[in-house]
Amino acid sequence: AASLEPGPEPTVHTQEAFAPEGNFTAKWTRADARQIKRMSDPRAVSRQSSMPAEYTMPSVPQDFPDMSNEQVWVWDSWPLTDANANQYSVNGQEIIFSLVADRNLGFDDRHVYAKIGYFYRPAGIPAEQRPANGGWTYGGLVFDEGVTGQIFEDQSFSHQTQWSGSARIFPGGEIKLFFTDVAFYRDAAGKDIKPYDPKIALSVGKVHANKNGVKFTGFDKVIPLLSADGTYYQTGEQNPYFNFRDPFTFEDPAHPGETFMVFEGNSAMPRESAACTAEDLGYREGDPYAETVEQVNASGATYQIGNIGLAKAKNADLTEWEFLPPILSANCVTDQTERPQIYMKDGKYYLFTISHRGTYAAGLDGPEGVYGFVGDGIRSDYQPMNQGSGLVLGNPTNLNFNGGFPFAPDYNQPFGHFQSYSHYVMPGGLVQSFIDTIGTEGNFRRGGTLAPTVKIDIEGASSAVDYSYGSYGGGLGGWADIPANLNVNPGGQV
Ligand code: FRU
Ligand code: FRU
Ligand code: FRU
Ligand code: FRU
Repeated sequence: AASLEPGPEPTVHTQEAFAPEGNFTAKWTRADARQIKRMSDPRAVSRQSSMPAEYTMPSVPQDFPDMSNEQVWVWDSWPLTDANANQYSVNGQEIIFSLVADRNLGFDDRHVYAKIGYFYRPAGIPAEQRPANGGWTYGGLVFDEGVTGQIFEDQSFSHQTQWSGSARIFPGGEIKLFFTDVAFYRDAAGKDIKPYDPKIALSVGKVHANKNGVKFTGFDKVIPLLSADGTYYQTGEQNPYFNFRDPFTFEDPAHPGETFMVFEGNSAMPRESAACTAEDLGYREGDPYAETVEQVNASGATYQIGNIGLAKAKNADLTEWEFLPPILSANCVTDQTERPQIYMKDGKYYLFTISHRGTYAAGLDGPEGVYGFVGDGIRSDYQPMNQGSGLVLGNPTNLNFNGGFPFAPDYNQPFGHFQSYSHYVMPGGLVQSFIDTIGTEGNFRRGGTLAPTVKIDIEGASSAVDYSYGSYGGGLGGWADIPANLNVNPGGQV
């Protein structure tokens, strides 16, 4: 375990499970998140990582290959999965979905133009025998123009975009694509005329794969599933900058026959009157490093109130859903708990989510990366992994220096400070992510393609990077390597 600088003790969390329908929301507290700074080496000098190696993604080289052969920008990506997050190939083809955008756009302008595209490649080839860029073929966009805009009550949107989600495969090659359907209402200067409108949505299609490639039919209709309710999940009226997106569905072996969804939300408080509580801070009785509720609420930390939502399907077609209370809140900790997923191992439930350095609340800090929480059920008193901090796999980062921005990285940071984001934990502890910026002030390259896959070993409430993984050395596996662990009709006969 990493040695710790002086600081508060983490909150005690029992991992105890509660009914999914219950109203217990686990808290990732300020006391927990402050363990990240306690693990950071205050003596680390300019361009050195200050973070423990076991929780730090190996450095990604700047001369990365591009998986789309420069056809599109690529970021958040997800495989074709079943109810237990197994990853499938179909008739000999591995298939992934990615957010993509036109390369004529600046990479940071991508969010309001994002569309879901897909890639495929032959299954069953070891990463080291594939082309360096992962060997994917870009298949194009999933939706025809106009399809995803139809669900919005107000058709006067200026930008209509498709954000992240997840894809489930069912018998007969049916695919249920869960995603975030988003409308922006902006004026010519790019200013919001009214808050944007993100809806969790479903479209159903069918996959056709053979040795020549992959095509989809269907995906010509979108079913809106959930809009933020203002009771559990913050709305645009409560905060125009609210977050509500990134559905991931799964079944829970403890509750057979039900389908659940986790997604990113914010705690449903109005932006200007949001307040955090002693429980959100989570300090132990008499901790000399504790902050007071008054101090924290006066610090601006109340603008960062991320949560992870839970919903339950009301029908077998998964076209009707109901909200349940959030399973995790990060009030006065961070504003973004993105792309949450449930991962099961040895009877434990792991909740993983990605978060940015720049979305931490006042007084807290931590790297860009994936954070993890472990409990005995999908709703439980989740314990933040790794010495109570939550940090699982961060970019090489020096917390003694500012971070800058992906478009203007700070001179004093390691090359990897913004190297990758949108990490997704796959079967066997493999982790994929996309490249954002590699380098530092005066010498950096933007990404827009998938990073090398890395591996973490997960053991109880701990994890560690497996530096022996991968053929590129130092823990780096294949670029854009998202392998299937199960194959539907592997012989490839349709
Ligand atoms: C109730 C329940 C509880 C258990 C939890 C596990 O539905 O079975 O008894 O603690 O769900 O998910
Ligand atoms: C920062 C970010 C993303 C989010 C988008 C919203 O890049 O906050 O995390 O998807 O901007 O516009
Ligand atoms: C993560 C993310 C997601 C969102 C998408 C928008 O990188 O911010 O939360 O769906 O990017 O581009
Ligand atoms: C920092 C932040 C977020 C807020 C957004 C817009 O990322 O303050 O908390 O949603 O910027 O102000």
